[in-house]
Amino acid sequence: MPLDIVVGTQWGDEGKGRFVDLLSAKADYVARFNGGDNAGHTVTVGQQTFKLHLIPSGIVQPHTIGIIGNGVAVNPVILQSEMKGLKDGGVDISPKRLQLSYGAHLITPAHLALDKAQEIARGSSKIGTTLRGIGPAYTSKVSRQGIRFLDMLDRAKLKTKIQKQVAEINLQLTKLYQHDPLDSGLVAEEFEQYAGLLKPYISDVSLILNDALREDRRVLAEGAQGTLLDLDHGTYPFVTSSSPTAGGALVGLGLGPGFEDRVIGVTKSFQTRVGSGPFPTEITGDLATELRGTGEQPWDEFGTTTGRPRRVGWLDLVLLRYAVRINGINELAITKLDVLSGFDQLFICSSYRKNGSEVTELPYGPGDLTGFEPVYKELSGWHEDITAISKWNDLPEKAQAYIHSIEELIGVRIRLVSVGPERDQVIDRNPPELQKT
Ligand code: IMP
Ligand code: MG
Repeated sequence: MPLDIVVGTQWGDEGKGRFVDLLSAKADYVARFNGGDNAGHTVTVGQQTFKLHLIPSGIVQPHTIGIIGNGVAVNPVILQSEMKGLKDGGVDISPKRLQLSYGAHLITPAHLALDKAQEIARGSSKIGTTLRGIGPAYTSKVSRQGIRFLDMLDRAKLKTKIQKQVAEINLQLTKLYQHDPLDSGLVAEEFEQYAGLLKPYISDVSLILNDALREDRRVLAEGAQGTLLDLDHGTYPFVTSSSPTAGGALVGLGLGPGFEDRVIGVTKSFQTRVGSGPFPTEITGDLATELRGTGEQPWDEFGTTTGRPRRVGWLDLVLLRYAVRINGINELAITKLDVLSGFDQLFICSSYRKNGSEVTELPYGPGDLTGFEPVYKELSGWHEDITAISKWNDLPEKAQAYIHSIEELIGVRIRLVSVGPERDQVIDRNPPELQKT
């Protein structure tokens, strides 16, 4: 079956981008199915570096077609600037190469203003959103007041809808949050301009993808964020407002089940989180600084979109097991194994203890983790630099043992292991003849 789905198993920032990059070399279509410009990914091609939040990074491969699905929330300002950046960098982004679902919802300046006002009002119980208007845009969608790309095809309708939406959000901004209102006329004018630019790109991507899959062309569905930020299955309410899970890929692209081949769950070799919410294996102090890095390197643990230092901790296998179940993950990929080099001991959380009993599954999901104490399995670390290793057998035994312990406790094979930020720093444990993608 020709559909591969890449999902994050943690709170985002697992390093999905590098596997998306790897797989998109053999994909015909690369498709984003959830979230918006709250995600962030840096793609380097030769001397060029592109910072992308919205457009699927696989578009830098000249043979792919980039798709933005109905499950995505799009800020046209960001979309337009990414399109320009890619074009200036020599990437063809004509409608032949980029297609936008008519059903994707638009993020307007009113959503941005509301996101900010709501976060301020939440005070100490703030979610720590990226302030990109994501929550309010999906709120508009669910409350059936959203504006979609489809509306851009009719300028008059677009204008009326924008003015209505801005007027409604203005009421909340001024009455509930004591903020200044936005000028709905100006917003409408701005969006009319984007409509002119984007019109040729708007289409039925469900039809395109279904036709492609039936012709056995490869589609790579690229998730943003991660399972534990999923609106339904994450650490609610400290979640994002979309569905970053494999089910979300189907809904967010207009596909039925049955096309999937690999459902690849990406996990970092430790745990990170940016923003508020539960984090049972969180660590602080020197050890945390060592895992996080100082922020000087692009791969250090600082938010791509917000620049915030990420919270860090030991790998949590209770949550990973949960992510495997929620997504139907049939293959795991692990990133940043090199960051664990140099520790004498490593810890993985294999279960939780609550009220004296040990559990490997959460009775009511991951939303409320109060009172769940991580139970750690201690493993010996390794000190060798592993960043130049390209074959599994060359990894230090203790690094192999770390991976094997995860596999044993989770019951899913870890096929891909990344040992550094560069494209070729990935170990594929499948023998070459089995590396179909
Ligand atoms: P929102 O998606 O901006 O509404 O933020 C909701 C939560 O999701 C916050 O904790 C954010 O830090 C987190 N979040 C959103 N997008 C990402 C991402 O791409 N990586 C990691 N965390 C994210
Ligand atoms: Mg990220």
